[in-house]
Amino acid sequence: MATPPVTRDEELELRVESLAFGGNGVARLDGFVVFVRAGLPGDTVRARITKVQRRHAEAITTEVIEAGPQRVEAPCAHYPACGGCRFQDLDYEAQIAAKQAWVEDSLRRIAGIAEPPVGQIIPADDRFFYRNKMEYSFAPGPDGAELGLHRAGRWDEVLDIERCWLTTDVGNAIRNTVRDWAREERLAPYDQAAGSGYLRHLVIREGRNTGQALVQLVTHERERFERERLIEVLTAHPEVKSIHWAVNDTPAEITNLPTVLLWGDEAIEEQIGDLRFRVRPNAFLQTNTQMAARLYDLARSEAGLTGGETVYDLYCGIGTIGLSLAQDALTVWGIEVSEESVACAIENAELNAIGNAAFFAGNVGQVLRDLHERAGDPEVVVVDPPRAGLAGKALKRLGELAAPRVVYVSCNPTTLAGDTKRLVEEYGYRLVRTTPVDMFPHTPHVESVSVLERAS
Ligand SMILES: C[S@@+](CC[C@H](N)C(=O)[O-])C[C@H]1O[C@@H](n2cnc3c(N)ncnc32)[C@H](O)[C@@H]1O
Repeated sequence: MATPPVTRDEELELRVESLAFGGNGVARLDGFVVFVRAGLPGDTVRARITKVQRRHAEAITTEVIEAGPQRVEAPCAHYPACGGCRFQDLDYEAQIAAKQAWVEDSLRRIAGIAEPPVGQIIPADDRFFYRNKMEYSFAPGPDGAELGLHRAGRWDEVLDIERCWLTTDVGNAIRNTVRDWAREERLAPYDQAAGSGYLRHLVIREGRNTGQALVQLVTHERERFERERLIEVLTAHPEVKSIHWAVNDTPAEITNLPTVLLWGDEAIEEQIGDLRFRVRPNAFLQTNTQMAARLYDLARSEAGLTGGETVYDLYCGIGTIGLSLAQDALTVWGIEVSEESVACAIENAELNAIGNAAFFAGNVGQVLRDLHERAGDPEVVVVDPPRAGLAGKALKRLGELAAPRVVYVSCNPTTLAGDTKRLVEEYGYRLVRTTPVDMFPHTPHVESVSVLERAS
């Protein structure tokens, strides 16, 4: 077995050839691969080796000796210290080319499809200020509470943020107001190691097409703040329509906590295409509203509905995809594990006067057979699972349905490729087409919509 040509903590000069899935640069030393954090294609960098394994090593860039041709100026003052963006300094065309290649490469390597039928990536309409949801953390600072995003590569350090380029001016202003409030009220940020302090997180959601904002404060145990003052400072922003508070009294970082409504409406609304959606604090909503509309249009055209079909919308969230398809289908049946999201989906059907869609709470792998008994054979099944893909029994149950067409909306090319391989090899499907969509510029995330068909 050959010895790796590098050792830990060694500094060396590397030329970065390409970007690997996940966003690290790829350099080679006589064929031995070194993944270089903050190295961009074409760069010559000085890098320090941080980890050595048998087949590859990891390194971090300490100096860019010669910048590659795709490097651009990053506009955000917090880049690259902030962990919110990975590629602000990579030309956008190069970002989407890399994402396209990751999807193709996953299908080739993992699904074993020699020439994957991957269409041209749909680029993001807006390259900045595109998010409708931000989650910030509190941390102690020299002038009192700081409020921002994690430092790049650090889960235990927070960078105070003045202006984030992923959210809107409204989102930035609300966050800064909450930081000022925390300082004024002398509330201490929670310290996970010591188990002391109080303020933990702030979540801001915005209906980007409705102008409505929802604010959720997450604290450690008990109510140790004056509600009226928090409501007063937040409602100075006319966009704020809903203020929630959640308690996490455990040392662990937990999401989807039950919330207490402090002021305003339980939920806010967002408009996607010609539909209106109610969104509660813990319900899932694609975080880029503008590109969600593009994604759903694509899913709709790939579903190829003619009006007479039974459609399943698995992992349906608040019903966004199912309700966009309902007008072209006979019936739509949605399954979603989060009861809060299902509650929204049912309300959303009503809100949009859609009478041919029904939504149920349950784990796809566990309830799909029951749904099949109740709803009958589907002509089209849309799946939009989380990053883990069709986990547990979900893939087997989906395969057993033997629907003629599956539309697979994926946020992870690796699990998409693994699931595609099984659907092809074990259940007789053929991958017709995959179209990548860039929902998250400057991050390594890539979404895609695939169509799989089964010969009947
Ligand atoms: C990527 S989101 C898609 C939501 C929706 N299709 C959309 O576009 O807004 C995945 C959803 O799957 C739900 N989920 C996760 N695991 C699940 C499971 N085992 N069964 C059912 N739903 C699940 C999550 O709560 C989340 O709402």
